[in-house]
Amino acid sequence: MAKNMKKQSNRSCDVLIIGGGSAGLRAAIEAHDAGVHVLIISKSKKGDPHTTLARGGINAALGTMDPEDNWMIHAADTLREGDLLADYERVEVLCKSAPDAVNELVKWGARFHRETDGRLTQRFFGAHTYRRTVFYEDWTGQELIRVLMDQVSQRKIEIVDNIFVIKLLKSNDAKREGPAEETEEETEEEVRGALGIDIEKREIVTFKCKSLILAAGGYTRVYAVSSSRITENYGEGVALAYEAGADLVDMEMVQFHPTGMVWPEKAAGTLATEAIRGEGGTLLNSKGERFMKNYYPERMELGPRDIVARAAYNEIVSGRGTEHGGVWLDITHLPKEKILDRLPTMYEQFKKLDGIDISKEKMEVGPTAHYSMGGVVVDIECRTKIKSLLAVGEVISQIHGANRLGGNSLLDTVVFGKIVGREAARLAKQGGGLVSSSLPRNVNNNNQKEFDDNDDGIFILKEPIKFRNEIQELMKQNAGIIREQTKLQDGLKRILELKNEFYSKDNILREFKIDDNNGEIVVLTWQVKSSLIACEAIIRSALMRQESRGAHYRSDFPKLDDEKWKVNIFCRKEEGGGAEMVLFKQNVKEIKGPLADSLKAHVKPEHHREFE
Ligand code: FUM
Repeated sequence: MAKNMKKQSNRSCDVLIIGGGSAGLRAAIEAHDAGVHVLIISKSKKGDPHTTLARGGINAALGTMDPEDNWMIHAADTLREGDLLADYERVEVLCKSAPDAVNELVKWGARFHRETDGRLTQRFFGAHTYRRTVFYEDWTGQELIRVLMDQVSQRKIEIVDNIFVIKLLKSNDAKREGPAEETEEETEEEVRGALGIDIEKREIVTFKCKSLILAAGGYTRVYAVSSSRITENYGEGVALAYEAGADLVDMEMVQFHPTGMVWPEKAAGTLATEAIRGEGGTLLNSKGERFMKNYYPERMELGPRDIVARAAYNEIVSGRGTEHGGVWLDITHLPKEKILDRLPTMYEQFKKLDGIDISKEKMEVGPTAHYSMGGVVVDIECRTKIKSLLAVGEVISQIHGANRLGGNSLLDTVVFGKIVGREAARLAKQGGGLVSSSLPRNVNNNNQKEFDDNDDGIFILKEPIKFRNEIQELMKQNAGIIREQTKLQDGLKRILELKNEFYSKDNILREFKIDDNNGEIVVLTWQVKSSLIACEAIIRSALMRQESRGAHYRSDFPKLDDEKWKVNIFCRKEEGGGAEMVLFKQNVKEIKGPLADSLKAHVKPEHHREFE
């Protein structure tokens, strides 16, 4: 294997956080305030994580515009629009904590939009019963990062950026190392750190900790058209957790946002925020018809994302799409001043990328892979089943069920960020100290073939972009917005072939000269590896679920089937030699208490279910 990056350096802390987005930052603040030493590592530049792309807002039943709103209606909306796949206890925590979470951001200086009398403005987002989305223009995510970064720097919490993590280190990695530990009694394995690559310095860094929070984002970039940047969301977080032995769940649930840009091609997938529809934007086909009346007349453009996205897709494939394969999104009826006040980024984005003035011309949009509802299994305190390993943000699952409501993801990052930070600090204080002073020299255990036993080199593909592009196109064609058995099977077959090809000697770069390269090829290799794990899990779970629920639509099983499929589907790495992915299912927890009644009062209307 390539002899490269031999130099190693070590860092230690109590709580290590992988991910510098809003979930990671909020967790860091809480853990720090609980009195432990926190270190954040992030592959993106400080202050520029994926969260900055979150546009439309953050939800809380504050009732500033609609006083009838309360957390129970918010929770009922969240559960119902997720087609009852979420864990109701987490939804309860999410929605009950929302007002405090938003007020805390305000206290920390978030500049959310206000009415002239000073009330926080709340706007409609899709499938919410009331107006409950608080926002800063149309770049709320960036505002959250600004505020949270400010809190992090006031506390002098260190962020090491440009670090790409390739492996979680467990206690037994050290024990396998040598005589010092060989006599120790076998204890439960725990996570004790992470191995990362410093992309700029081109060195391997070992981070040691007492507890570790994974806040490394989702997996929507495994699709060719995605609202994520090309550098992020390849399932890096789910792959790290899975390799360490944690379970994944609901991986088939990938949200396609109805309105990504379709033109120009280089901008394909870039988000056209739901706030445009929240402010009154309409969707039209090439004949000028408001087609949502045929799919979801009760709510039209503000229906749930899964339904609006499939409707737009159906118009496009049925020949009623625009020249570049989209539908029209029209906000031209709004006064320009209002567009500039509420949607300034969208105004600039379309002007810059597509050369149009959205106050005068319609936008061309179509579905884009936007959010991963599936992810790592955690309990209500965000603990995985691996001791000392916690996770939060888009990398985890069971909060949004089969379809996430717009504005609920920023909320989930701060609500559960606080919970996971507190819990990680508690575990670190209790924690049995750091792993032995020396690093595992040979990290090639657990059937991982990517490390060299002899020289500490790591695995690098010759042509990672070729792999990446094929995977993204394959996922779009075979496991996209409309799915069916044969295509899923073909997709799985090719993913498994690619997995073999990935490890084939012919594809490995042997003479890797780190000086000739900016480190990108290393990151790309590991993103391909993560994608292969995420894609296998998505497709296997999609094949297993023989019904249509939320974002998962099977044209061969178009109906929702509660009797057979009100279950969560789990993926686990088989123990022992095979390292196969095994699947199993479990019934969704029955909803009890006041939420059960609240749900009965809010039944989801029937909607269009036949797509080819
Ligand atoms: O359309 C949007 O602004 C997206 C928001 C979200 O996914 O929460």
